Amino acid sequence: MSVLRAVQADITTLAVDAVVNAANETLLGGGGVDGAIHRAAGPGLLAECRALPQVRPGVRCPAGQARITAGHRLQAPWVIHTVGPVWRGGGHGEAELLAGCYRNVLALAQKQGLRSVAFPAISCGVYGYPVAAATAIAVTTVRGVLARTPAIEEIIFTCFGETIFSAYEDELGRQPA
Ligand code: APR
Repeated sequence: MSVLRAVQADITTLAVDAVVNAANETLLGGGGVDGAIHRAAGPGLLAECRALPQVRPGVRCPAGQARITAGHRLQAPWVIHTVGPVWRGGGHGEAELLAGCYRNVLALAQKQGLRSVAFPAISCGVYGYPVAAATAIAVTTVRGVLARTPAIEEIIFTCFGETIFSAYEDELGRQPA
């Protein structure tokens, strides 16, 4: 039986099998959690990301997809990079892209035989996704995937700040649909 929980923490400090990075399509780092993960992982992470194939000029990971690398200096042995949608009002497939992030991250985790995965609140920072809608998509999508593939035993929704944390607590408190 998989356990889903929310914590308030810096994701780079978590001793899990994989931390998830809310990256951009270049996979060459940025601010927010992307910057924190690259700083904590060290230059080897950037070097590994840079070596990943570009699916089109400047794009190593299209929005909604995921790529896995080693964790380098992080406690977590793996980093799964995913690119959330930029919020543009809700009429541009944002919800499906965000659900795709969670599905594709878990597919890579499952394929790698991982048992614990920590997610940040993908797209809820710079990309401006409304928090309540994003956390509902996160929890619903993860619950749906794990109901079919229980090999992943622990999911940690890692929150920066009270707003995100309470949004996850509310969502996790709702019975699965
Ligand atoms: N640990 C956990 N959560 C964090 C951390 C951290 N160390 N740092 C930031 N966060 C939180 C933010 O507070 C926000 O709630 O992660 C969530 C996602 O915010 P962003 O990092 O801004 O990610 P996102 O909204 O998906 O935007 C991605 O920002 O950093 C750039 O390169 C990145 O272009 C990409 C864009």
